[in-house]
Amino acid sequence: MLLPRPTRLIREAGHFALDATTGVFAPAGVADLLRELLSPATGLPLPTVGAPGDGVISLLVRDDPALGAEGYRLRVDRSGVRAVAAAEAGLRWAVQTLRQLLPDQVYAAGPVRGVPWRLPTVEIVDVPAYPWRGSLLDVARWCHPLPLLYRYVDVLAMHKLNTLHLHLTDDQGWRFEVRRYPRLTEVGGFRAASPAGHARDGRSDGVPHGGWYRQAQLRDLVAYAARRGVRIMPEIDLPGHAQAAIAAYPEFGNDPTRRLAVGTTWGISTHVLNLEPATLAAVHHILDEVVEVFPFGYVHVGGDEVPTAEWAANPAAVARATELGLPRVADLQGWWTGRLAEHLAGHGRRTAVWDELLDRGAPAGATVFAWRGTDRIDLARAAGLPVVAAPYSHTYFDWAESDDPAEPLAIAGVLPLRTVYGFQPGDVLGVQGQLWSEYLPTEQRVWWRAFPRLAALAEVGWSGPVPTDDTGAVPSGVWAEFRGRLTGQLRRLDRVGVSYRPPDD
Ligand code: ACM
Repeated sequence: MLLPRPTRLIREAGHFALDATTGVFAPAGVADLLRELLSPATGLPLPTVGAPGDGVISLLVRDDPALGAEGYRLRVDRSGVRAVAAAEAGLRWAVQTLRQLLPDQVYAAGPVRGVPWRLPTVEIVDVPAYPWRGSLLDVARWCHPLPLLYRYVDVLAMHKLNTLHLHLTDDQGWRFEVRRYPRLTEVGGFRAASPAGHARDGRSDGVPHGGWYRQAQLRDLVAYAARRGVRIMPEIDLPGHAQAAIAAYPEFGNDPTRRLAVGTTWGISTHVLNLEPATLAAVHHILDEVVEVFPFGYVHVGGDEVPTAEWAANPAAVARATELGLPRVADLQGWWTGRLAEHLAGHGRRTAVWDELLDRGAPAGATVFAWRGTDRIDLARAAGLPVVAAPYSHTYFDWAESDDPAEPLAIAGVLPLRTVYGFQPGDVLGVQGQLWSEYLPTEQRVWWRAFPRLAALAEVGWSGPVPTDDTGAVPSGVWAEFRGRLTGQLRRLDRVGVSYRPPDD
């Protein structure tokens, strides 16, 4: 019934029924979360009480090294509920588990009458397999509205996913307000048109698109996510995928006399940032504002798909490579990203990068997001760097799930649900599912591509990879067990209005 599957669960006869007298004894933020998640549908007040005891939901922080940073123990019996965790993070996940133990009507936004709000008698011990369980949402290609971001956070938390990777900038749009460089959003936040149909068809819709988020709006989102145990990692994609920034500030580009437009086609712009000290200083200023808004310990500075032709044609860049003793102009990317990493370290932040940096001199200690195949995971590990497993073969949910012609337009495909569930990430920091949004202009499309595959990846990340057979396939019994629980999870998603793609089998 629970998804992701808990480490250990014993079900016994009996239940605990919530009613108007049920109290909560918990740290204030956790009690608030419990009420925020359970009261709207149940209509129960769940007031905070002064002590644990009969008829009380007690959620307690207790030193317990076996539970780690996010694990919890939970016991429901006839007299009440008691959960313990070594930190509040674990209690937040215990709250999500309590919600799943109730009838799925608890996920409704408003009061549902006539439902017995009973928790089954259970004993649960639950500790995640991986500390990083992420989901990337690209808000650069389409500026998804804030209400979607809030719902997205809610749904990540339902799956015990703890990280939202917000891809905030790209060739086609800059969505992060920077006070010192207002044109980044005023100019870089808007494009004249978008592709119609697949990018390879070369057609344009002729419809302007744009938008951006104020820092205050993002701070509110960060706080909302934090209450649910979800951290937000910002990505400012640099020094490539930066055409929107160069359109706003031509002096950031390699030919300051050229006037570029914000990108109107999908793909990889050949225009990249220059490597001049003034541009580096500007990027440092931008990152200074990023860390003010996002308190999470990691900042992602991109680094994927950076064409180097402009540097090779720029005498200043070539001279810098020579001066630094770099064998290739391309290695300037590693040197330059190292300067960003040093700057972020000065703010107490770790730097995250895409796996291209492995070929161009990854900064010491950078966390590598391995996307170009599972071999990139091994390469990052061999380089002694922490790695988040994000290979397109298992985690690119912007790919179509099947080759059925009725599938909505997708960038590529196919990536079936079963393949995701059979993913073997290995010894890594964690896993992350990607939703690049070129072909996800609406909330409905976002959900259709995200689920149920993100639910399968959430289980890999929390419960650990499942055993596979000699061919690498998920055995039928293992699959059937997951599918049974997934059906329950899809009912919950129905209640919260997530328009997922129905599973094929
Ligand atoms: C990527 O898909 N370009 C990271």
